[in-house]
Amino acid sequence: MSSELESQAWFESTFIGFLFRQFATPKPLPPGIRLTDQVAVVTGSNVGIGFEASRHLLSLGLSHLIMGVRSQSKGESAAAQLRKEFPAAAVSVWILDMQSYDSVRAFVDECATLPRLDAVILNAALMNISYRTAATTGHELTMQVNYLSTALLTTLLLPVLKAKKIPGAPRPPVICVVGSDLAYRVDVETRGSLLQHFNTPEGFGQFLWYGRSKVLLTFFLTKLAEFVNPDDVLVNMPNPGTTRGTAFFREFSTLVTKIIAIGQFLIARPAATAATTYLDAALVRGKESHGCFVSDWAIKPYPQFWYTAEGKEFGEKLWEETMEELNFAGASKVIQDMSASR
Ligand SMILES: NC(=O)c1ccc[n+]([C@@H]2O[C@H](COP(=O)([O-])OP(=O)(O)OC[C@H]3O[C@@H](n4cnc5c(N)ncnc54)[C@H](OP(=O)(O)O)[C@@H]3O)[C@@H](O)[C@H]2O)c1
Repeated sequence: MSSELESQAWFESTFIGFLFRQFATPKPLPPGIRLTDQVAVVTGSNVGIGFEASRHLLSLGLSHLIMGVRSQSKGESAAAQLRKEFPAAAVSVWILDMQSYDSVRAFVDECATLPRLDAVILNAALMNISYRTAATTGHELTMQVNYLSTALLTTLLLPVLKAKKIPGAPRPPVICVVGSDLAYRVDVETRGSLLQHFNTPEGFGQFLWYGRSKVLLTFFLTKLAEFVNPDDVLVNMPNPGTTRGTAFFREFSTLVTKIIAIGQFLIARPAATAATTYLDAALVRGKESHGCFVSDWAIKPYPQFWYTAEGKEFGEKLWEETMEELNFAGASKVIQDMSASR
């Protein structure tokens, strides 16, 4: 359990800790895992780690993959590759634009029409290089996509997953919300309104806002997991580690991209390897991973700040502010209903 690993948190936040994680030996899946008849959703799966995770799931015999993507054409082109490779599987492309709460809600409604849903991997995220806001909400884009819309999508999918649980199945439905170990290395602003703080360009930095979006997500998920029975829905947070061969730095200049590529050549893992961390979280980890940070094929501590008194206060305040933000879509009611069977 991440909550019991406080003594290791300081090490994980050091550069050496990062290197240890980064060069951890990938753990192969236990033999015999087959996903016949199963249905999975992977968001942001047209490219990068999400695409490779989709490919892994299909190679394990997944029957139906739903690719939650924001561009129909990019999604169809990725789906065409997967359909060619795995002709026996159904591969659907559904639109999900995480900049928009309406799109998130429409996507959840579509998921509710599925006859079953075994695993959801919320992988879509971005690093925004300049301060921009989402058209419909006014929130800064990184925070909107990586934190607020991901929190909403996670919450609204809980009752859907619970309702689709197959009686007698060896594992409960699982929702994996992708984190980042950059969360170990950034600080957060604790004064004033935690969410409003991100709605001003003052102090904006692409790595800082991205890292903070993942810190907030870590706090949100740990609190969320407290209300959810892991026998109904297992919730955990895989971290793929520093990865090469993805489109993550697409907005950066050619020069910066080249510099990043040198660093990636030295330390990053290929997207196909990084994607196995998602499979580990979704298919191997059990109740012991509920609400946990699952990094590099093992349960790891939360960021050091999480264990402090200030961190506890931050988590409570963030939860309240987030619920207030998401209550237009009934978030508190969903949590209340889920916690009834806790
Ligand atoms: N790469 C790394 O080193 C690294 C390290 C730690 C954690 N991670 C995490 O791993 C995950 C995948 O990263 P990656 O490197 O594979 O990134 P990527 O190649 O850039 O893929 C990101 C995916 O998210 C989608 N996306 C972005 N904004 C979206 C929106 N508004 N609505 C819906 N989808 C949206 C992208 O769609 P488009 O193609 O249409 O833009 C793309 O499909 C992310 O959660 C990231 O934070 C990555």
